[in-house]
Amino acid sequence: MKINSRLAKIAEKYRLGMGLGSQRAGLKSQSLAETYSIARKNAPSAFLIANIGGPQLSEGLDLNSISDIISMIEANALVIHLNPLQELIQPEGEPKYKGVYNKIVEIKDKIDIPIIVKEVGSGISKEVALKLEKANIDSINIAGSGGTSWAGVERIRAGQLKNSLKEHLGDLFWDWGIPTAQSLIEVKSSVRLPVIASGGIRNGLEIAKCLVLGASMCALAYPFLKAAADSEEALLEFVNFLFTELKSVMFLTGTSYISQLASLRYILTGELADRVNKNGC
Ligand SMILES: Cc1cc2nc3c(=O)[nH]c(=O)nc-3n(C[C@H](O)[C@H](O)[C@H](O)COP(=O)(O)O)c2cc1C
Repeated sequence: MKINSRLAKIAEKYRLGMGLGSQRAGLKSQSLAETYSIARKNAPSAFLIANIGGPQLSEGLDLNSISDIISMIEANALVIHLNPLQELIQPEGEPKYKGVYNKIVEIKDKIDIPIIVKEVGSGISKEVALKLEKANIDSINIAGSGGTSWAGVERIRAGQLKNSLKEHLGDLFWDWGIPTAQSLIEVKSSVRLPVIASGGIRNGLEIAKCLVLGASMCALAYPFLKAAADSEEALLEFVNFLFTELKSVMFLTGTSYISQLASLRYILTGELADRVNKNGC
């Protein structure tokens, strides 16, 4: 509650978008729902994004429940997160993805706010992006590898629970996924949808690089959550750093508007260049 409350205040103050965490719990009780709805209370005019996971869709979550999730925060958009790796490693996970695609198509057809599909740290491939475009969704958040590793998080939890099979799987798949920059480039080159970049973005320079590579927007999870968990002052300082870093890149590249970053010339080097060339993007 405290974290959502702090993040919402910052979102309202700086006109940032804010994506809530999975709202499955909020469907269970009014008191849990309030830990999410505090966001709209503290951010009356911010762009708030509701959130539900693929496994819940596979289990048959109905459209009424999805409408409840949306009205819980008077959401401006709905995110459907795809987290098969996390579900696989999580000791009490639900690695169920049957029927998820058809459910995404149905939601897009019946729900009248924008639908965003995101990964949670393993990236989106061009093949998946093309399929999602056919589902007529509004945007893809690639959430590539290189940042928070959910296999890693669940591996640590499995260790605490002495679940050796999940520990083993967590070690094996800790780094599984498409790195953020590669995922961004291959998805951008395959579909016309606006692409949100995320996964390991930690400062304004990295935000600028993603915008140069064609992202329409960037998202950061871990650094915002960490600062918000620390204090309101830490969150404020983090956001000020972020803006100053991004403005510094704009100053150094002579760009007056965020949108101009997309037309800057860039050179890919090293492993990223190899990966992109081999992939034919
Ligand atoms: C503590 C924590 C909880 C998260 N919970 C959710 C969630 O419930 N639903 C979701 O779509 N993303 C959630 N995310 C965000 C994504 O998993 C994000 O795509 C991933 O963390 C990669 O971004 P990052 O490297 O900036 O953290 C969470 C992230 C963190 C750090």
